Parts: sequence; C-alpha cells; structure tokens
Amino acid sequence: MKAKVDQDMCIGCALCTQICPEVFKMEDDKAVAYVAIVPKEDEDACKEAAGECPVTAIIIEE
Ligand code: F3S
Repeated sequence: MKAKVDQDMCIGCALCTQICPEVFKMEDDKAVAYVAIVPKEDEDACKEAAGECPVTAIIIEE
C-alpha cells in the first residue's frame, strides 16, 4: 500500500501526523508521506488518517 498527500489540498492541520506519525510528517506547513511503501503494521492507522483528514487530501493506493 502507498499513501501520498495532495499538496494543493492539504491545509496543514497535522491530524494525519498525529494519527500515523510512522507515515506522515509535516514539511513546510504541509504533510508529506515520507515512506515509499506503508508498512503492513501501519496500514490501519494510515487509512484512519486518510479518513480523518478534513479536506480528504490523503490518497491511498493499494
Ligand atoms: Fe494535511 Fe489532511 Fe494531514 S489537511 S496535514 S493531509 S490531515
């Protein structure tokens, strides 16, 4: 599974970095996914972060 953050949509609320810091970190007031492949054990948290993002800026690719 892969995840990425749409930089045009992200408003920098940082919720994803709190829910899933193993995948997301803040960079210049926007979140980025800093792992190429989401580790199996972090997939649930990553999906939760995508679901909780207020502007649905997180794109999950299976
Ligand atoms: Fe941005 Fe959504 Fe995360 S707004 S900081 S991608 S929760």
